[in-house]
This record gives sequence, C-alpha cells and structure tokens, in this order.
Amino acid sequence: MPNLEELVQEINRFEAIISEWDESQRCVAVGLKRAIEALHKAALTSLIKNLKQESMPALRHAVADEVVYAVLLYHELVKPPKLPLSQRVETALEEVRPGLKSHNGDVELVAIKPPDTVEIRLIGTCSSCPASTLTLSQGVEQAIKNHCPEITKVVAASNNPTVNNVNVGLISPFSSKITSTWIKVAAIDQVAEFSVLAVQFAGNSLILHRQGATVKCYRNACAHLGSPLEKGKVENGIITCPSHGFQYKLETGECLTAPDVSLQSYPVKIKDDKVFVKLQN
Ligand code: FES
Repeated sequence: MPNLEELVQEINRFEAIISEWDESQRCVAVGLKRAIEALHKAALTSLIKNLKQESMPALRHAVADEVVYAVLLYHELVKPPKLPLSQRVETALEEVRPGLKSHNGDVELVAIKPPDTVEIRLIGTCSSCPASTLTLSQGVEQAIKNHCPEITKVVAASNNPTVNNVNVGLISPFSSKITSTWIKVAAIDQVAEFSVLAVQFAGNSLILHRQGATVKCYRNACAHLGSPLEKGKVENGIITCPSHGFQYKLETGECLTAPDVSLQSYPVKIKDDKVFVKLQN
C-alpha cells in the first residue's frame, strides 16, 4: 500500500498540471475536487460518530495511522497537535520582536509558571521606556494570550525597580547629562505656532511648542516606544506620534491615548526673545 508521502506527491502532481490550465478548466477541476471532498467528509464524519459510540479504542487505533490522521486533519475532524506551552510562548514573542527591535528594544522569556503565568523581561530601550507597562500589556501580553489561552497573567521581571512601577516624573532620560542651569535653545521667532520645533542640546533631543507667548518644552520621545515626535502631525494643539498614533496635548504633555503616561516636560523661560530650558527641575 502506498505511504502518505507517495499519496500526497500524486495529488501534488495533478495539482501542478491543473494549475497550468486556463481558468474555466481549473474551476471545473476545483469544483470536482470540492464535491469529492465533501462526500468523503460526510462519510468520515458519520464513521467517526459511530465509532465513538461503539468503540473509542478502535477509533484511537485508526487515528494512529498516519494516512487516516492526515485525512481527518485535512477535513478538520481531529484537532491539530498542541505545541508545548514554551514553544507557543516563544512563537508569541517572535511575533512582537520586530516591533520592539525597531525601537531598539527586545523581550525575553524569564519563566513559565504553570498553570497561568508567564514572566518576561523587556530589554534594551523597552526596559526603561516610560510606557514599558503599556508595551507589555498591549503588545507582548496580548500576543502571549493569543497563542496561549491558558495564560492569564503576564508579568514583567524587573531589571530595575522602575520597570513594573513606572513613574515618568522620576525618570530622567538625560541622567548622565543633567544640568541645572538655564540653556538657550532657540530664539522665540524660530518656534512657529501650531507646530513643534526640534532642538538638540548636548546630544539630547527636545521639542518646543509655542502658543502665543507661552513655550513648552518636552523630551523628543513618544511615551509609547520612544519614537521622535517632531514629524508628528499637530492639530488643535494635539500632536500625533508618527509611529503608532499616540496623541499628546502639547499644552500639558498629557497623553490622550494612554492616560497613565505623559511626555517628559522641562521648565522654560523666555528672556529677550530667547527660549531658555532647564533640564533639571
Ligand atoms: S512610539 Fe508608538 S505611538 Fe509613539
């Protein structure tokens, strides 16, 4: 009797021939295939139902045959084998890695704690991102739950105490370059109204926003995954991050998308039509 591989090869050979036919001929062949499959599925469904009632061992024995199993799987009459939990968690993390890596971040699996918990660690930029809790809940946690419905808790193992309990006000992105003096960063007429101006200071990137005579200064980094904001669309005093659309009120730095986070702001003073910023409160 031919084995599974030989049988599948034969099907593939005919499918390759049919794929060369013109569309109307292909439709006839596909229609015939579907009709035969429907007949087989109806017969198999009835067979399984009867076997289940008469003898489960006989059914298990039959399904152990690779050809029977492959055909039942094709007709969705048996469930596909469940991958181990660790493999499904890794698949979920692989799915979110490209997004995290595009922001110089990453995630690693720390531990699986049956029956319902997975512990992960955000690394790189993501570990210190003011919105790392959000990254966790929105991206990583959702991906893990999609692949592993039995997991209901995804917790972050902390590299440092701020990862699980983010307090934007306590984080200085410029900790190594902090200054407490007022620094002139622009002339006031360089800061156009209804937009933002990006300025660099000692390797730090800031954005300035002016409404009349009032100028606001924020770190040029979205509280979601740290993308620069200067190319974000500004409308009605609200800036939209070009990366994933988080929105912020430029008057206050308040995030409208995720109320738990906000832009990091810095004191500003205007003197002789010059804008001065102090990076340390
Ligand atoms: S980095 Fe994602 S919305 Fe800004």
